This record gives sequence, C-alpha cells and structure tokens, in this order.
Amino acid sequence: MPATVIVGVQWGDEGKAKVLDALAEEYDIIVRYQGGSNAGHTVVVGSERYAFHLVPSGILRHGKVCVIANGVVVEPALLVSEIEDLRARGVRIDGGNLLLSARVHLVMPYHRVLDKAQELRKGGGKIGTTGRGIGPCYADKAARWGIRAVDLMRPASFREKVRSRLEDLNPVLEKIYGIEAMKWEEVAEEVLAAGEKLKPFIADTASYLRKALDGGRRLLLEGAQGTLLDVDFGTYPYVTSSNSAACGASAGTGIPPRRLSEVLGVAKAYTTRVGAGPFPTEILDGDGDELRKKGGEYGTTTGRPRRCGWFDAVSCRYAVETSGVDCLAITKLDVLTGRNPVKICTAYRCEGRRIETMPADLESLTACEPEYEEMAGWETPLGGCRRREHLPAEAQAYVRRIEQLLGVPVRLISVGSGRDDTIRCGI
Ligand code: GDP
Ligand code: IMO
Ligand code: MG
Repeated sequence: MPATVIVGVQWGDEGKAKVLDALAEEYDIIVRYQGGSNAGHTVVVGSERYAFHLVPSGILRHGKVCVIANGVVVEPALLVSEIEDLRARGVRIDGGNLLLSARVHLVMPYHRVLDKAQELRKGGGKIGTTGRGIGPCYADKAARWGIRAVDLMRPASFREKVRSRLEDLNPVLEKIYGIEAMKWEEVAEEVLAAGEKLKPFIADTASYLRKALDGGRRLLLEGAQGTLLDVDFGTYPYVTSSNSAACGASAGTGIPPRRLSEVLGVAKAYTTRVGAGPFPTEILDGDGDELRKKGGEYGTTTGRPRRCGWFDAVSCRYAVETSGVDCLAITKLDVLTGRNPVKICTAYRCEGRRIETMPADLESLTACEPEYEEMAGWETPLGGCRRREHLPAEAQAYVRRIEQLLGVPVRLISVGSGRDDTIRCGI
C-alpha cells in the first residue's frame, strides 16, 4: 500500500499544504514527520482559510487519522491552542483522529529564549529563524538533553529533567547572553499543565503506522520546510535544524525506508525564501515586489515578507535528486500571468565557470550569477483551468520546460489557493 511523501523542493512555502489537501481524499492517514511550529501551512476551503503549524493539514478531511510523528518537535502550549482554535471552528479533533508520538521532543520555553538570544548575538550574520526555538530543541535532542512527550506521563522525572537542564543552561543564559536565569519549577509546571491536555493523544505512532501499512491503509506524509532548508543537504548554515528532504520521512516516522513508495515534490512556479542565505535568482527590484504582492508572499508563521525570484532549475534539480522525487506538483502558476517574458534559471556562472549543479560551499553559491532562459508569457487568467490542455500554450510550454529541466513529470498543477483550483495531469 502506498506511503507517499510530499516534500518541498525549494526553500519552503511551496504550497505543500494546498497540494496535500487536494490529494488527501485518496489517503487514510496523514503524517507530519519533521520540523515544528516554524512551519506555516495554509489551506483554503471555500471562504475559510486555515493556517497550520503543528497539526497535519489533513485534519480538515473527514474520516482521516492525523499523526504527529517522532521527528517533529512540539511546543505543548502551542499545540493545545492550535487544537482549541480548530475545534472552535468546528473541526473535530480527539484521540481518535489525532495521534502524537510519545517520542516527539518538546520545545521548551528556554528553547525559544535561546533561539532569539542566539540570533541577536549573531547580529548581521543571523539566520533569520522563525524564533520558535526549533534549532535549540533539535540541538538538545542530539546532545541528549531533550525532553519528550512520553516524559509528560511521569511528572516527577519530568521535573527532574527540567531542573537538570536549567542548572546547566542558566549560567549560559546569564553570563553569555545577559538574560535572567529561568526558574525550573515555573518552567516545569507551565509545560506540564499544557501537557496534561495532550495526554489523550500520546501514542506509539511508529508501530501504529507500520501496522496501518500492513493492514493496507494508505499513508500521506506531509513534509515541512523544503529540501534546500535541509540540515544536511540545504544551504547550510542557512537552513532549519531537521532533515526536511525526503530522507527525513523514514527517521521521522519509524516507517522503514523501503516501505516509502513514492515522493511527490512540490515547487512554486517561481521561487521564494524567508530569512537569510543565498538565493541566486532573487529579484531585488520592483519586479520582485510585484511578485510578492500578487502571490501574497508573506510568511504564514512570522508575517515576514518573503524574498521573491525566478524559477531556479539548478537548485530545484538538485533538490529533486536529493529527495528522489518521482513526480512534481507545480503551484502558483496563476501568479505568473501577465509577466512577459517569464524566466527560468538553467545554469549558474560561478567564479568564471558555467555550472549546472549546486555548490556545497556557501561562498561559491553566494557568488553564483544565474543564467536565464526567457520564455513567452501569457495574459489569460488561469483560475478556471481544470485540465492541462486548457492552459494557454505559453503556460503549457513553461510547465513542459520545467519537466524537461528537472527530469520528472508533473502530476498536479495548482492555479489558485482553493481546493478546486487544481489540475490533475493524469500520470
Ligand atoms: P507550505 O508551507 O508549502 O504549505 O505553503 P504556505 O501555505 O506557507 O504558502 C503557500 C501560499 O500560497 C498559501 O497562502 C496558499 O494558500 C497559497 N497557494 C497555494 N497554491 C496556490 C496557487 O496555486 N495559487 C495561488 N495564487 N495561491 C496558492
Ligand atoms: P514551511 O513548512 C519557509 C526558515 C526560516 C529561516 C530558517 C531557519 O511553511 O515551508 P528555523 O526557525 O527553522 O530555525 O529557521 O528556515 N524556515 C522556513 N521558511 N517555510 C518554512 O516552513 C520554514 N521553516 C523555517 O525562515 O530562514
Ligand atoms: Mg509555509
């Protein structure tokens, strides 16, 4: 039975949630496998707009089970408020349709404090994180300081873990960052109180998912961020702190790699990036502002304006190879309507050489100049198109060129934020 991974092939915000929502009907279980509340996934249903940070966006579909798997990092108070907000809007959420892995690491209040303090200290060299404590939480996980959802079940040892972590961290907060020490008792009680409300959801999700696959159920795995933000394969250090490439799907869920059947890569018809870091095709003049305005390119989590640029086939091909993408979804094609010509970056000029690959070295990548291929644009709005052949010839040619350059077929084209603004390509 299929376990399909949905993964971004740019720097996040590719429209993964919109694509997931369009496909969710064909699956039984929707799983988030990495990242945390740094993710902002927007789904539009009719006149309703939902912004998800931790809850898988599949929760809007009736009869589906949603899983927050072990690779995700969860801030308990935030998850509780997301659940309550969704319930207030009439979405059913209980222990029957939302499961939280006992193994998820908890984002603690001191992780947020540390995230912000570290960014402030880096000054001009900051990453531009979402400030949600993601980096420090994954750092604690790797350093074996982490506190997990399962620890909420044993308050005495939970308190001891918080005490011990803060005993070590407080001198750093005070002496390095000039921040007041945090009281472990207060931190522990605050998190335990929120955690109490999460107990009904806590489960061994890895074993649940393996059994579900054995039982013939269909799984859709929702990636957060994008392959170019992956901690191993992205534009390090301007990345997030988890494996946001498809390789994170196995470790982040406990589903053995050979049981993942398909990877669907999601790419915007142009490129955006939030936060700092190299971005070869960024448009720094008014054209970039126009794209931002037309595409509504403002962060779902932080509200920050997204940096905008042309489609970059070099970095996307690298991401497609890294994530082992089988087929693509191209989103926001409608946003390019009225732009003439449209440009695709097909190679970089790097230190006097022409290259078609992504350099690992940040200095080289920063020095890369894009080489563009220009294509004729189109004027017709795409909102009403429901078949690929309904698109204007120029838009069809644009999608075909992306397929050629990335070497994978397009399975879905999105021409608007609504559920129905979707073209299935029938491959
Ligand atoms: P994600 O993080 O990859 O799920 O993407 P976001 O939800 O952060 O950002 C994508 C934004 O584009 C959201 O506001 C979506 O509602 C919107 N969107 C998705 N697909 C389309 C599309 O095809 N056309 C337009 N105009 N908007 C879209
Ligand atoms: P979705 O799932 C876009 C970026 C931040 C920053 C870097 C590190 O909505 O695509 P972090 O807070 O993770 O330590 O920040 O990663 N970033 C995202 N950019 N979409 C996201 O999520 C992102 N999550 C993190 O802007 O540059
Ligand atoms: Mg997003």
